[in-house]
Amino acid sequence: MTNLLPPTMTAIDPGQPGGPDVLVPVERPVPQPGPGEVLIRVRAAGVNRPDVLQRLGLYPMPPGAPTIMGLEVAGEVAALGEGATRFEIGQPICALVAGGGYADYCPAPEGQCLPLPDGLGFIEAASLPETYFTVWSNLFERAFADEGDTVLVHGGTSGIGVTAILLGKALGLRIFVTCGSDEKCAAARALGADLAINYRTEEFAEVALKATQGRGVDIVLDMVGGDYVPKNLLALAEDGRHVSIAFQRGPRAELDLTQVMRKRLTLSGSMLRPRPVAYKAALAESLLRDVWPLFADGRLRAVIDSTFPLARAADAHRRMEAGDHVGKIVLEVA
Ligand SMILES: NC(=O)c1ccc[n+]([C@@H]2O[C@H](COP(=O)([O-])OP(=O)(O)OC[C@H]3O[C@@H](n4cnc5c(N)ncnc54)[C@H](OP(=O)(O)O)[C@@H]3O)[C@@H](O)[C@H]2O)c1
Repeated sequence: MTNLLPPTMTAIDPGQPGGPDVLVPVERPVPQPGPGEVLIRVRAAGVNRPDVLQRLGLYPMPPGAPTIMGLEVAGEVAALGEGATRFEIGQPICALVAGGGYADYCPAPEGQCLPLPDGLGFIEAASLPETYFTVWSNLFERAFADEGDTVLVHGGTSGIGVTAILLGKALGLRIFVTCGSDEKCAAARALGADLAINYRTEEFAEVALKATQGRGVDIVLDMVGGDYVPKNLLALAEDGRHVSIAFQRGPRAELDLTQVMRKRLTLSGSMLRPRPVAYKAALAESLLRDVWPLFADGRLRAVIDSTFPLARAADAHRRMEAGDHVGKIVLEVA
C-alpha cells in the first residue's frame, strides 16, 4: 500500500571512502519496502560515530546493508510492504535501520520501528534509536544492570554516554563517567552523572575506586578499549561485568587474568548493526514497554547538540570529528 511516491530522492551515498567531503547529496531511486517493512518519509536522521567509521571505509558492513549512510530516522509512514500491519500510512514513527537513513525515504523492518515518545518531535525522536537500543541491550541484557549498581561509562558526553547517564539514572543506577575536559565533565554532571572524571588530568580507575571506598564499580561500559581495558578491570568490583562496545584506542588489550579470576569478572561485548531483525524487534518491544513511557513524564529526554540540513551532512560529520559535541547531532530532511 503506498501514497503517491516520487521516482527519485536525495540521499547521501558516498561512492568511495574519504573525508567529510565525500558526503555530497546525490539522486537515488526511492526504495520499495520489502515484506514486513515500512517505507518512512524521513524528516530527521541521527548521526552516530559508526557513520564516521563507515565513511572512512573502516566499518565492517553487514552483508546486504544499504550503502546510503544513516542508522536511525524519524518521519511518517509513506508506504507499507507486504504483510506490514503495525503502522498506518501517515503515522509518525522512528526506527533503527542497518543503513539508508541519510535520505528522503528509508525502508525499515516494522519490528524495528517505534511510535514517537510522547512530547517528542522528529528531530528528538531521530536521535534515540541507535543509542537506546545499544545502551539498553548492553547495560541491562549483557551486563545485568540492577537498581543500585554503580556503572562506569567512558565517553560521558557522547551520544551513547548521554543515553547511559539519563537511562541509568531513570532506572536507579549510580553513573560514573569519564570525559576529556572539565567542560564536558560539567555537562555530564548537569545531565545527572553522579561522578564525572576528567581522564586527561586524573587516573579514572583510582578515582572510581576511591569513590566506592575501594569496592569498585559493578559494570564498565567501554567504548575505548586498548590501554583502558586493564584499568577498567582494576576499577571493577568483585563479580563485576565489563562490556565492550567499541575500541577507540585499539582492539588489542593486555589483561591480568589474576584480576579476572580473583574478582570473578565477566567480559562481554556486542555489535548491534549485524544482529538479526528478530533480535532488534525484541529490543524495540522492551524499549516501548519499559523506556518510552519515561519520556512522557520527563524522566528521559533527547539531548540534541546540533542540527544540520541533509545537504550539509559533511558539516555534521566535521562537528562529530571535532569532538566538541555533547549529545546527538541530527540531520534535518526537508
Ligand atoms: N557496539 C555497538 O553496537 C555500538 C553501537 C553504537 C555506537 N557504538 C560505539 O560507541 C562509541 C560512541 O558512539 P557515539 O555515536 O556516541 O560517538 P560520539 O558521540 O562521537 O562519542 C565518542 C566519544 O568517545 C570519546 N573518546 C574518543 N576518543 C577517545 C579516547 N582516545 N579516549 C577516551 N575517550 C575517547 C569522546 O570523549 P571525549 O571527547 O571526552 O574524549 C566522545 O565522547 C563509538 O565508538 C561507536 O562506534 C557501538
